[in-house]
Amino acid sequence: MSSTARTIDPLPLYADWRSAARRRLPRLIFDFIDGAAGEEAALHRNESAFRDLPLMPRVLVDPREADLTSNVLGQPLGLPFGCAPMGMCDLAGPGTDAALARAAARWRFPLCISTASSTPLERLAEMSEGHAWFQLYVTGSIEAALSLVDRAEAAGIGTLVLTVDVPRLGKRPRDLRNGFRTPLRWQARHLLDFALHPRWSLGTLRAGVPRMANYSGASAGGYDRTAARRGADWEFLQRLRQRWQRTLVVKGVVCPDDAMRIRELGADAVYVSNHGGRQMDAAPATLQALRAIRDAVGPDYPLVLDGGLRSGEDIVKARACGADLVMLGRPWLYASASAGAPGVQALVQALLEDMGIALAQLGCSAWREVGPQVLAERHLGHS
Ligand SMILES: Cc1cc2nc3c(=O)[nH]c(=O)nc-3n(C[C@H](O)[C@H](O)[C@H](O)COP(=O)(O)O)c2cc1C
Repeated sequence: MSSTARTIDPLPLYADWRSAARRRLPRLIFDFIDGAAGEEAALHRNESAFRDLPLMPRVLVDPREADLTSNVLGQPLGLPFGCAPMGMCDLAGPGTDAALARAAARWRFPLCISTASSTPLERLAEMSEGHAWFQLYVTGSIEAALSLVDRAEAAGIGTLVLTVDVPRLGKRPRDLRNGFRTPLRWQARHLLDFALHPRWSLGTLRAGVPRMANYSGASAGGYDRTAARRGADWEFLQRLRQRWQRTLVVKGVVCPDDAMRIRELGADAVYVSNHGGRQMDAAPATLQALRAIRDAVGPDYPLVLDGGLRSGEDIVKARACGADLVMLGRPWLYASASAGAPGVQALVQALLEDMGIALAQLGCSAWREVGPQVLAERHLGHS
């Protein structure tokens, strides 16, 4: 992605970014990003939980420009949202990882680099100028996982996110039907798909087919996407807590009992997530899980949330329900697929504008003022 100076007008809605990405990407790739487990009920449950939660507009309040800065896990942030860890981001278009890292540096939001990133973690840590987190999968040997931890530490990363919701890879029907696999293998049956999307195909050919850049090869304790990641158990979490002295976050939690136990083991935050509905079709909506977990852990323990957030209003709702920080997944990839680095910047601008409008409607002039009082149910009662 050559220029970050070029700008584009933000698209109005998530649906517009998604449609633009759908036109640009081969079906195989769009489905890998867009798809989820089973009949995709968990993905839709995540989204509907946000859509179905009304906020309460207030009137006659001076709508000053809202202050969106915050401080989460000891880190001053320019924005209250960040980028969830996603493997193989460059499948959305060459340079996606880099565009996200530069946006994180510019806007001061956390970029969580995936174990399966398509750019080496050290490069992304440098480009994001101190705003990178690193997400760890324990696949293959424990030693291979711990060597990634050492690399993250050496790269100056301050926050490690252990993903724990992939005891086995979820069954994703779209990927199975399309024959999606990593490393990406171009099969004869994909040729028409690629030919119909020449911009993506030529760009990807020119830049090189994305690969899991944190591994030098299948042998080096290598990463097999379909392998179980069950090395991440309670014992490993204890071991990791002792070894990693910086901020430790555990991702993929929806059960309040698990959240309590993770807190007791000394994790600095729980990251409420169901992997964007990609693991279990019957998983609860993350917004619902967040509320139950907030009740269980009390008001002060840090909670991160992702899954189904599609607009600035959704980000406000997450905060009202107890999230200290929210992360978005698919929206970033669609913005990059649609318009490259300028698309990523435009997405940030669109979300900021949405949030500014929402806060003005709610009568809040700062992010920290948003709390449960902005939920309509607080004023109208549960029906
Ligand atoms: C293409 C793609 C790749 C992902 N790769 C990872 C990953 O490597 N590690 C991880 O912990 N979660 C991964 N996730 C899950 C995201 O971190 C996040 O939980 C989810 O995308 C949030 O839901 P949303 O996409 O609806 O915003 C991935 C999600 C997508 C869409």
